[in-house]
Amino acid sequence: MPAITAIYGEAVRNGTASFELDPPDEAEMRRRFDAVVTKGYPYLCADAPDGAVGGYAYAGPYHTRPAYRWTVENSVYIAPSARGRKLGQALTRELVERCVQLGFRGMVAIIGGADHMASIRMHERLGFVHIGTMPATGFKHGRWLDTVMMHRPLGEGRATDPDPHSYPGTLYPAR
Ligand SMILES: CC(C)(COP(=O)(O)OP(=O)(O)OC[C@H]1O[C@@H](n2cnc3c(N)ncnc32)[C@H](O)[C@@H]1OP(=O)(O)O)[C@@H](O)C(=O)NCCC(=O)NCCS
Repeated sequence: MPAITAIYGEAVRNGTASFELDPPDEAEMRRRFDAVVTKGYPYLCADAPDGAVGGYAYAGPYHTRPAYRWTVENSVYIAPSARGRKLGQALTRELVERCVQLGFRGMVAIIGGADHMASIRMHERLGFVHIGTMPATGFKHGRWLDTVMMHRPLGEGRATDPDPHSYPGTLYPAR
């Protein structure tokens, strides 16, 4: 958790992926971790070749209103020294696979900055398609930021109705 706190803090301070402005401390990062895993969503961490924590990825609810419950939103953060070595792609591929196995039907990526080519490219490589861009939804580092939205169906996607009794998370009761 200290390594994850440092990786996310760097991204908050220097990047546009997160629209947070102040890095959360370790206790807050642990609280967020607990909130993800206790609701039944996956949270993954990857070793870099040197044995340090290279990055982490997790899924959570896209929105909390219950009709959204089959759709997840993903997050992935790689340490600066480990970027560009397919670690982000490997973590997100595994996250997609876990979410398919859990029964979710779609994953949304919300990417901060229309010029964030590393994230856009990584998601394209994993089968996400661009579904829209929300203009000037953020203001950070002295400039307006667009939000790029990408989506990937999971499993049978919309081809079949989900089984309400197989809902994987604990966020919503079966209905
Ligand atoms: C975006 C991020 C997760 C990508 O992870 P990564 O491990 O660095 O990327 P990968 O090595 O897996 O590369 C994935 C693809 O993106 C491409 N790519 C990587 N960096 C790139 C860049 N700066 N510009 C263009 N393409 C880039 C790679 O070439 C690869 O495509 P390819 O398979 O066609 O060669 C990582 O850079 C990161 O953590 N950035 C800061 C936080 C962030 O933006 N998180 C995403 C939140 S939505």
